[in-house]
Amino acid sequence: GKSILGLEYFNADEIQLVLETAKEMKNIINRDIKKVPTLRGKSIVNLFYEPSTRTRSSFELAGKYLGADVINITAGTSSIVKGESLRDTLLTVEAMGVDAIVMRHKSEGAAEYAHQVVKPAIINAGDGAHAHPSQGLLNLFTIAQHKKTLKGLKVAILGDILHSRVARSDIWGMRKMGMEVHLAGPKTLLPRFLTTEKGLFVHDRIEEAIEAADVINVLRIQLERQKSGLFPSPREYARIFGLNRERLAGAKDDVLVLHPGPMNKGLEISPDVAYSDHSAIQEQVQNGVAVRMALLTLVLMGGKNLEINA
Ligand code: CP
Repeated sequence: GKSILGLEYFNADEIQLVLETAKEMKNIINRDIKKVPTLRGKSIVNLFYEPSTRTRSSFELAGKYLGADVINITAGTSSIVKGESLRDTLLTVEAMGVDAIVMRHKSEGAAEYAHQVVKPAIINAGDGAHAHPSQGLLNLFTIAQHKKTLKGLKVAILGDILHSRVARSDIWGMRKMGMEVHLAGPKTLLPRFLTTEKGLFVHDRIEEAIEAADVINVLRIQLERQKSGLFPSPREYARIFGLNRERLAGAKDDVLVLHPGPMNKGLEISPDVAYSDHSAIQEQVQNGVAVRMALLTLVLMGGKNLEINA
């Protein structure tokens, strides 16, 4: 069956199909009555081994708006606490007859593993530092709603690239859509073996990365994944690498600021920038529901030419 494991498996036409479908879904969300019967009779499990506010709730709302039955399994309140393995948990969920499993896990490759172990469609909702495809797609959708075309746009991705599945999904998705990607952050938070390729650039200074950018995607500093504490210190980080009003003044007048959330305000982004007119951070959350409605529909009902990991 179809699964969504990462944007490296998508081509530009498939990404475009998701974005077009999400536009239709956004119209549904903006109606008084948001419910449609598209996925009536389908069941979806959100299986989350890591905390989440946005991704889990928006997949749940997306499934419910489409008429599916949606349940949540969260590691801390399930038999995972009693030591049940990932494989046995997946087999248990499969035995209940679900059609799709939306899964978040701390290990890279966990979604791919699930896709091999069970038959329901797997939607990767984040696997370690590898991928977060629905986030990459909602970022593209949000950018597309603000800018005429994606092709040729310059995007700066700032901060904790090393630990960021969002950065990886952005890079795959944006490069496939013909966008230029500029990475910047402290050396400690850049992948050690980062090689640049066509359309991908690495800068030492945030100022260089943002000066020609149409979009700035600030990443969350993943404090929980820093093995030996944050270096530079939070105060130094904010001073040298944080996106604040002074630094933003060096960017284009119509630059769009994104952040996947949750934000460490005052660290990677200042509150005045987060709530400024440049910020589409709240819009990203709304668009996340539309994009996830599109993904669930395309995975469970099919779509013309959509063969993602089929
Ligand atoms: N952006 C994102 O994945 O947020 P959550 O961790 O709250 O789902």
